Amino acid sequence: MAYSNIGFELQEGIGTITFSRPKALNALNRELLQEFDHALADIARNDQVSVLVLTGEGEKSFVAGADINELASLDPLKAKTFVLWGLTVINRISELPIPVIAAVNGFALGGGLEIAMACDFIYASENASFGQPEIKLGLIPGYGGTQRLPRLIGINQAKELLYTGNLISAAQAHQLGIVNRVTPPEELMPAVMKTAREMASKGRVAIRATKQAVNHGMSVDLATGLRIETDAFALCFTSKDAKEGTTAFLEKRAPVFTGTFTE
Ligand code: CAA
Repeated sequence: MAYSNIGFELQEGIGTITFSRPKALNALNRELLQEFDHALADIARNDQVSVLVLTGEGEKSFVAGADINELASLDPLKAKTFVLWGLTVINRISELPIPVIAAVNGFALGGGLEIAMACDFIYASENASFGQPEIKLGLIPGYGGTQRLPRLIGINQAKELLYTGNLISAAQAHQLGIVNRVTPPEELMPAVMKTAREMASKGRVAIRATKQAVNHGMSVDLATGLRIETDAFALCFTSKDAKEGTTAFLEKRAPVFTGTFTE
């Protein structure tokens, strides 16, 4: 599939998807979501991709939300189909087995913040801003904002953002725990790539097992979560990396992880 609303590149095991509709501040229209869906499905099948980075074209916007032109003509039935499909696409991000970093380079509003929150964590440039402004359109978030935001920052902080629709700065988002790290704009991608390379150098079975344990464990009670962790721990021993990592430590050398399985 040829892409015209997103870009994709793969370097040293790190895939980067760039949302690319700068005239509409990278708002999510149907074509963009279709291309994004396709790219995510491809990445899920591609063993060469160890880490995925999502970012937006230009310095102004990551994603300014769902395309309001498309929202304007919906009736209730169409609204449900529309939002379910978009949500399915965005859920693919959290369901990817590999780590996904959001590199937020500007506006992350509505569906933009919802995409970023479906990633494993967020780095942002100093000029980024965040918000769920749907209330100002007479709407509520439809791609997970009422669910992921309170889980991320707590119910009361989330309600204030959801009820007012106000935007917050990167510094405020950092303070609230939405963003892991804030950088000057020109340092955003180098910082993201440095962390991505660090993760890509780790054993891929252990990285995947970690993501699975955290994500599945967070939606169940502690005892069930701990059982998920136990199973994921045992799963790591199907990989040669577990032997290599422990042996390298004992031999006082750096491990060389291959991500291959024991016979
Ligand atoms: N949909 C469609 N077009 C959008 C857009 C969106 N979400 N956001 C921005 N644009 C377009 C503008 O219409 C404008 O187009 P024209 O040049 O053709 O007029 C262009 O992008 C540039 O935008 P502005 O001139 O408005 O730029 P600004 O710097 O003055 O303001 C902004 C930037 C504060 C982000 C403002 O554009 C804005 O408020 N955008 C809407 C944000 C929003 O409400 N997002 C939530 C959408 S609903 C949603 O996401 C629901 C869901 O969960 C499923």
